[in-house]
Amino acid sequence: MRQLLLYCRAGFEKECAAEIQDKAGQQGVAGFCKLSNNSAFVIFEAYDSESLASFYRDYDFDKLIFARQWCLLVDEKLELDPADRVSAVVQAALGAELRNLGELRVEYPETNDGKTLSTLARKFTVPLRQALRQCGVLLKKENQRAPVLHLFMLSGKEAYLGLSYPENNSPLENGIMRLKFPSEAPSRSTLKLEEAFIQFIPKDEWETRLASGMNAVDLGACPGGWTYQLVKRSMMVVAIDNGMMADSLMDTGQVKHYQVDGFKYTPDKKNVYWLVCDMIEKPQRVGDLVCDWLINGWCQESIFNLKLPMKKRYETVAEVLEAMQQKLKEAGLRVRFQAKHLYHDREEVTVHVCKA
Ligand SMILES: C[S@@+](CC[C@H](N)C(=O)[O-])C[C@H]1O[C@@H](n2cnc3c(N)ncnc32)[C@H](O)[C@@H]1O
Repeated sequence: MRQLLLYCRAGFEKECAAEIQDKAGQQGVAGFCKLSNNSAFVIFEAYDSESLASFYRDYDFDKLIFARQWCLLVDEKLELDPADRVSAVVQAALGAELRNLGELRVEYPETNDGKTLSTLARKFTVPLRQALRQCGVLLKKENQRAPVLHLFMLSGKEAYLGLSYPENNSPLENGIMRLKFPSEAPSRSTLKLEEAFIQFIPKDEWETRLASGMNAVDLGACPGGWTYQLVKRSMMVVAIDNGMMADSLMDTGQVKHYQVDGFKYTPDKKNVYWLVCDMIEKPQRVGDLVCDWLINGWCQESIFNLKLPMKKRYETVAEVLEAMQQKLKEAGLRVRFQAKHLYHDREEVTVHVCKA
């Protein structure tokens, strides 16, 4: 197995490729990427299968920003006969000596064409799972600790077959976190912060880290989608933006709105836990600002978006994160960083940083 399949947002194949090549390269895994624009996936082919296997096993998937999911390809592209798709998959799995896998996911690229495969993928899952169980490729019962088999359908006639490890993959179908838009929220942006909380903060820590009564500051808050997520968790929010906040949020009594510049606002007291920031600004400027908040002790944790430039998007994100880490280290702060191109993000990535 010399190839990794990485799923990403359509239009971000170059970023996904630049990142995997950079990060695998740093671990001594040389290779090249195969991609086509707007396909929503990338294949990374390593020159050496053993080093790829250990990279895939040991490198923390959560450190990848642009990949939503990754799996090791077990074979070249499979040809599927629409009259009997099951046999080709079973043969390929047996040929690769796959045994005792815990789960089957039939997936597809998140493109307009890809999405038309969702019904087929759902219907095909049932007979394929049954056949794979009968021949021992899959365990008789779903097991969330055993490896996952991915059939990534490119069309009704072609697919890739891959393998991932549940301790180091995305647990989500297609790597996508689907969330329902809360009708009371003033903007769809609300889903970005909701997804970020789920992605970055373990559920069993929500009671202490997303607790009611906490103070939060939201820079670039209007009309209030992010503030809504904080208010919903019974926090007190200072919303900074020259625009207008939704009345429904102001009516809660939990929000103070100041129409001032987010780069100039400083809190009166050091009682703010969360700083969130969705201002449309140069990523370097936002990175510097968040560092200042942490260094001055004005917040404990932050979630913010880095709006991506038109070109060199991966390189820009990597540079900004590197500069932030350096600045915080020089100030003697130990922090943890996580960054992800979330499903609800567009031309931006979401970053979480907290004091270690
Ligand atoms: C993408 S919108 C924020 C959407 C918001 N997070 C929500 O969920 O509704 C960006 C906001 O940043 C604000 N903004 C941009 N630069 C700013 C600055 N220097 N200070 C304060 N707000 C700023 C804009 O007025 C705009 O409302």
